Amino acid sequence: MHKPLILKALAAGSHVLCEKPLGMNFQETKEILEAAQKTKLRHMTAFTYRFVPAMNYIRYLVHNGALGDIRHARFQRLQDWGEGAIGWRQYYEQAGSGELGDMGIHRIDLAEDLLGPIASLCAHTKQWAARDLTKSGEPCPPQDVEDWVAWIAQFENGTTGVFEMGKLTKGFGPRGGHDQAELNGTKASAVYQLHNPHQILFSNRGESYQIRPVPAEFLKSTDSPREPNEGDPLIRFRYDQAWEFMSAILEDRECTPSFYHGMRAQAVADAILEAAASRKWIDVKA
Ligand SMILES: NC(=O)c1ccc[n+]([C@@H]2O[C@H](COP(=O)([O-])OP(=O)(O)OC[C@H]3O[C@@H](n4cnc5c(N)ncnc54)[C@H](O)[C@@H]3O)[C@@H](O)[C@H]2O)c1
Repeated sequence: MHKPLILKALAAGSHVLCEKPLGMNFQETKEILEAAQKTKLRHMTAFTYRFVPAMNYIRYLVHNGALGDIRHARFQRLQDWGEGAIGWRQYYEQAGSGELGDMGIHRIDLAEDLLGPIASLCAHTKQWAARDLTKSGEPCPPQDVEDWVAWIAQFENGTTGVFEMGKLTKGFGPRGGHDQAELNGTKASAVYQLHNPHQILFSNRGESYQIRPVPAEFLKSTDSPREPNEGDPLIRFRYDQAWEFMSAILEDRECTPSFYHGMRAQAVADAILEAAASRKWIDVKA
């Protein structure tokens, strides 16, 4: 449903910040990006986790070579949503995919932001729960999307990535449980954990992981007026996403992440669904 709303907003002369996933499939996201590019309006995809302080710091470390060349990396989002119905998220017609478009799409974006484009991948999906009862116990149509998705990705830069996302992972609580990215380089390794947003784990060769606090300059976006130690750190970093959108409008520059990044993540997501269905390695087409 994002596309018709975006087109209406652009036609009305509005800058647009759209939630993820940007569209139902790659073709739709391409059309959305092209429509935005025909205007002078600003466009942004809400890949919110780019703004977590620990991710700001890991991005700096990776892009400045502190880890060396990244040989392999893993991205995991594991939660337990229970087996009942979860609304529009469980229907292909409304969501385009299940766990992939809900949680996987963020981790595709994080991975490409850190490591560059994914060139090819293989994948597998699983649907375990029928989800044919609402919270109040009323029957509803069963889900037709995946509860779990995993893929192995080959990045253009030579890194291999291993990804796993699941909505039925017992052991993880209602606040999200496990959201982690680990990068293993030729010089050092580093770990981002959403649930410890003001620290990372870091290890040079021959050491075990040590906790490293996120330095002050990475605790918020540059120039953001947000006070990093005020409020719940698991929620407050989201302010910086809105700050980026407003700043890009005022400074007359592209937003990061823009609709381009929404389209790019969807190209990878489409390849994941194709790989899972065909049981083959698929080149990402974008
Ligand atoms: N970036 C993030 O961290 C993050 C987190 C949660 C959800 N999301 C995304 O936000 C979006 C909404 O998710 P949610 O969990 O808030 O869903 P939700 O079901 O709680 O809310 C969706 C809202 O949209 C309204 N709606 C439905 N059809 C509409 C239409 N045609 N016109 C106008 N409004 C309409 C519904 O009435 C409802 O209020 C999704 O795209 C989801 O993927 C992003």
